[in-house]
Amino acid sequence: MVNVLDGCLIRLSVLCLLPQAGLALWACVRACPASCTCTQERSCSVLCDRSALAELPKEFPCEASAINLDKNRLKFLSERAFGTLPSLKSLSLDHNNISFITPGAFKGLPNLVELKMAHNEHISYLHTRTFTALKKLVRLDLSDCNLFNIPDRIFIEQTALKELLCFQNNFRRIPGAIRGMENLTHIYLERNKIEAVAYNSLLGLGSLKYLNLQENRINVIHEMAFQDLVRLENFYLNDNLLSELPRVSFKGLGRLKMLNLGGNQLTNVSKTWFSDLLELEVLYLDRNRLLFIEEGSFENLTSLITLHLNSNNLTTLPFPVFQPIYFLGRLYLFRNPWECDCTLEWLKEWMESYKLVRDIPCASPSSVAGLDLSEVVFAKVNGTCVDPGELNLTTASTDIASTTENRFNNLISKLLQQELREEMGNGTESLRNGTFLDPEDGEISDGVRGQMSQASQSILYFLVVWFLFGLIGLSDMDICVSCT
Ligand SMILES: *[C@@H]1O[C@H](CO)[C@@H](O)[C@H](O)[C@H]1NC(C)=O
Ligand SMILES: *[C@@H]1O[C@H](CO)[C@@H](O)[C@H](O)[C@H]1NC(C)=O
Ligand SMILES: *[C@@H]1O[C@H](CO)[C@@H](O)[C@H](O)[C@H]1NC(C)=O
Ligand SMILES: *[C@@H]1O[C@H](CO)[C@@H](O)[C@H](O)[C@H]1NC(C)=O
Ligand SMILES: *[C@@H]1O[C@H](CO)[C@@H](O)[C@H](O)[C@H]1NC(C)=O
Ligand SMILES: *[C@@H]1O[C@H](CO)[C@@H](O)[C@H](O)[C@H]1NC(C)=O
Ligand SMILES: *[C@@H]1O[C@H](CO)[C@@H](O)[C@H](O)[C@H]1NC(C)=O
Ligand SMILES: *[C@@H]1O[C@H](CO)[C@@H](O)[C@H](O)[C@H]1NC(C)=O
Ligand SMILES: *[C@@H]1O[C@H](CO)[C@@H](O)[C@H](O)[C@H]1NC(C)=O
Repeated sequence: MVNVLDGCLIRLSVLCLLPQAGLALWACVRACPASCTCTQERSCSVLCDRSALAELPKEFPCEASAINLDKNRLKFLSERAFGTLPSLKSLSLDHNNISFITPGAFKGLPNLVELKMAHNEHISYLHTRTFTALKKLVRLDLSDCNLFNIPDRIFIEQTALKELLCFQNNFRRIPGAIRGMENLTHIYLERNKIEAVAYNSLLGLGSLKYLNLQENRINVIHEMAFQDLVRLENFYLNDNLLSELPRVSFKGLGRLKMLNLGGNQLTNVSKTWFSDLLELEVLYLDRNRLLFIEEGSFENLTSLITLHLNSNNLTTLPFPVFQPIYFLGRLYLFRNPWECDCTLEWLKEWMESYKLVRDIPCASPSSVAGLDLSEVVFAKVNGTCVDPGELNLTTASTDIASTTENRFNNLISKLLQQELREEMGNGTESLRNGTFLDPEDGEISDGVRGQMSQASQSILYFLVVWFLFGLIGLSDMDICVSCT
């Protein structure tokens, strides 16, 4: 028994036989390397971080389940550098100075699940067989190394790999090694130097939920590049050099919840881009050069909660662009050169009716430049809105009516009045303002409901649902102009 155990510890045998359970604590602590501390709670953890180690300890406890070697001065990993550690699940080598890893360095670690080698600034090359024998690896962190590429077949044995962290390296393309890795769920490639996403860069990644490509130099995306990412939920493409997107870039991404296109050079939003994004909740289009949003662009974004359009070159936002977004809760519009003419009247109404007045400084027309949209009085001459710049002040005094009434409330209360008047004769006085629709709790008073027929109830129900959808979405709306 003792011989077998010692044999394991001094690596006379490739086979490491674990001691019986009762001896585990003893074995973990007894075999602890000199510069490390070892703890045995549920499993044996070996802590050798911040120990100024220039070389690996000669041996680790046979039952080690986690080894932490962060922040040492390791430079080199030889073949079978860790011996045979059949229980090892987690190995961390972050913040060392590793520059060379011998192929087969991790042989003898058949059950390793997590390998961390981030912040080793001199790893610029990895051999195809670097990770050989790591068949159970689920999470690999190679962030902030100095990698320019990795061999296409490097992950050939890592069929269980789910999370690959490679941010802050020097990749100029998406590594071909990830192609077809159907079990990958998370890929971190931010802060590299990737210039394009080719049609085959992301093929076969059917389980991917998270893809981060932010802060690269992407200026071209093939229109089929994302076609296999049918489970993608969070997608960062912000802070790249995109000035255009293919018409159907995001086709089929029906699970996408967050799409970040901020910090690019987009000028137009095309109505074909977001057609399939029925579950999208957050869309970033901030810090682009947007001048034009095609009508219908947001038409199918029925789940959208937050839309960032701030810091663009938008002058106007036609109401139809927004039409069916009932749930919109936050709308960021600051830092745009808004032209506060009649086409923005609806926006002012929106803000006012939900007591969500925020500063939207107008850049034009000249008569209101510098004013806040909330301060602009949209005049009406014979029922038609008159743009502030064009208003002829000499005729204005006669015929002008302020038009702060809310279009939505108005429409609904008109419809309701008509319907209810038919049903209830004179008892509708109190409904003229739609006041029985309490915007605070959204309930219809029972008294009123009690008097209505089935037919009017269902019509009312429809209207109320329609109205509340709008209300719930808008009640929390944040229209920002100068928020940072
Ligand atoms: C890290 O390794 C590189 C090259 O291998 C060497 O030039 C550098 O001095 C090392 N840094 C430290 C802090 O040891
Ligand atoms: C994905 O994982 C399953 C089960 O773990 C495995 O059978 C399959 O080969 C893996 N797929 C790839 C492409 O590695
Ligand atoms: C943007 O839209 C405008 C108006 O439809 C069009 O004239 C212009 O060519 C478009 N620009 C791009 C880059 O698609
Ligand atoms: C919205 O979805 C419908 C149904 O899939 C589709 O026919 C329509 O073209 C989409 N709208 C836009 C603007 O893409
Ligand atoms: C967009 O706005 C920026 C800064 O406000 C300005 O420099 C640039 O010329 C504008 N671009 C267009 C196309 O209007
Ligand atoms: C407003 O309408 C009246 C009659 O309906 C008409 O006489 C008048 O000229 C109109 N004013 C303007 C400014 O259109
Ligand atoms: C403004 O109204 C006056 C008199 O009603 C008229 O003489 C003048 O031409 C109008 N100016 C404009 C720009 O319509
Ligand atoms: C409606 O009002 C008129 C006059 O105000 C009254 O004569 C009539 O009886 C009322 N009808 C009902 C149903 O209350
Ligand atoms: C509308 O509401 C206001 C304030 O609540 C009230 O003074 C007015 O009489 C109402 N008008 C109608 C037609 O019900």
